[in-house]
Amino acid sequence: CHVHYHDFVLKKENFTRLCYTKSMLVVNGSFPGPVIRVQKGDTVFVNVHNQGDYGLTIHWHGVHQPRNPWSDGPEYITQCAIKPGSNFTYEVIFSDEEGTLWWHAHSEWTRATVHGAIVIMPLNNTSFPFPEPDGQEIIVLSSWYNSTEDVSDIVAEALQDGGDTPDSDCYTINGQPGDFLPCSNDSTYHWQVEYGKTYLLRLVNAVMNSELFFAIAEHSLTVVGIDASYVKPIVTDYIMISAGQTMDILITANQSPGAYYMATRQYNTVRKNIDDYDNSNVTAILQYKEKYTPLMDPVFPSILPTYFDIVSGRKFTRRIKSLASIEHPTNVPKNISTRMFITAASNYGFINRSGEYETGVTTSLNNLSWVNPETDVLLSYYRNITGFYTPDFPDYPPFIFDFVSEDFAPDTVPTIKGTKVKVLEYDEEVEIVFQGTDLMRASEDHPMHMHGYSFYVVGSGTGNFDNETDPKGYNLFDPPKMNTVSLPKVGWVAIRFKASNPGVWFWHCHFDRHLTWGMSFVIIVKDGGTPETSIRKPPPNMPQCTSSSTIKLQ
Ligand code: C2O
Ligand code: CU
Repeated sequence: CHVHYHDFVLKKENFTRLCYTKSMLVVNGSFPGPVIRVQKGDTVFVNVHNQGDYGLTIHWHGVHQPRNPWSDGPEYITQCAIKPGSNFTYEVIFSDEEGTLWWHAHSEWTRATVHGAIVIMPLNNTSFPFPEPDGQEIIVLSSWYNSTEDVSDIVAEALQDGGDTPDSDCYTINGQPGDFLPCSNDSTYHWQVEYGKTYLLRLVNAVMNSELFFAIAEHSLTVVGIDASYVKPIVTDYIMISAGQTMDILITANQSPGAYYMATRQYNTVRKNIDDYDNSNVTAILQYKEKYTPLMDPVFPSILPTYFDIVSGRKFTRRIKSLASIEHPTNVPKNISTRMFITAASNYGFINRSGEYETGVTTSLNNLSWVNPETDVLLSYYRNITGFYTPDFPDYPPFIFDFVSEDFAPDTVPTIKGTKVKVLEYDEEVEIVFQGTDLMRASEDHPMHMHGYSFYVVGSGTGNFDNETDPKGYNLFDPPKMNTVSLPKVGWVAIRFKASNPGVWFWHCHFDRHLTWGMSFVIIVKDGGTPETSIRKPPPNMPQCTSSSTIKLQ
């Protein structure tokens, strides 16, 4: 394996989109930020220099970081912010990942402007489990906010009306809003292709609060990887990509040379039944290098499913299966020792940490709404400092009800704010069933993401999970391996993993709106008793929280 070194300089720069110019924090002057390219198993040292005016951290989304939670990144979970004027070097350790992942800031909503792709190539003596493509292309889907000042403005803009408005002023493809939005058609992103060639498209959904449909006019897509894990090829006209997910897709330029739109449509929008083009779409152009007469406008992908087309969304996601081959085996845990059933809800009203009732929107898992501790969980755990979290995250919700019923009175269940974590023994096999609920009639998909691991998605369905019948339908043969899975609106999803990576690992909904309101928890996986099965030593100069600045790490 190789070792790579990168410098990430975080600095405010001016960007203009939709006729708004704003100063925003980016890495090395670009939006989206730089691409990290590695081979399977490499290690990358990234020295992050914060020259901005607020603190933040960086997370390497989907990189398992064996025994190395110190460099995972989520603020208040594994570290505190890299303060303005200071720097911190992450040691990003790749292991079994192969394909596309991404990195992003993990403090408040800073990831809106601070993110980029990670490309993980196979080792020299191995190849892709599909014919070698003629070329590769990276497409990053991001959110753009017109707000000018600070990340707090972005949060305020996106949470207005309780979050019922589209979550950003537009989406972008490689930083550009595309042809149909104000002032942006001059800068529409163009992907140049040659007739007859096949390309590997590496797609990253970095938008803040949405799942997206994506299609390219007249061109079929062959999905070959998701979340840096290969899948059985899926030939399709459109895909649905959840927030935080990444996909590897083969595309052959086999249509008459010309210009074709690639476009996204927001899946989980509240604007139902609108077919018009608006700020929840974004386009770029796939353009053939061959000469052609531009007689008409580029072709739009008529196949792109419409808003809230749940049927099309599920039709696609149900087709995803892992390779389960000799080179890429599937090892689904079958001796489950910890089984959790976790409800995901939007709530109104909560019990604060002093035990008093307050009004306001929250989100919860098992009716608990996560509150960040003042000292990060990893440091408290590693140094045995008590008082910042408790190890009592429950395996079940406080009561069972008809989770998907519209008649359930939401205000009878104020959620509880707190910092409770789930502790697992090293190497135990775990199943978690997430159940979506319709509390507050606010049901929508939740892209549930786990740090430090990929898990097998063994089942999913609509309605209430049935403990008797649903496990009988689990796919234990070739389920997909992912780090982010869409918990379907008023439905459930079941995942399994083996707790073989000791550390402190965050679990959360990858919609930042829901994350802000508390839809997260933490899993601590204990050490296995030998140096090779224990958390590594912390690096020097670990950024610490103000309240813990007197706690010394050695
Ligand atoms: Cu992509 Cu916790 O993050
Ligand atoms: Cu959510």
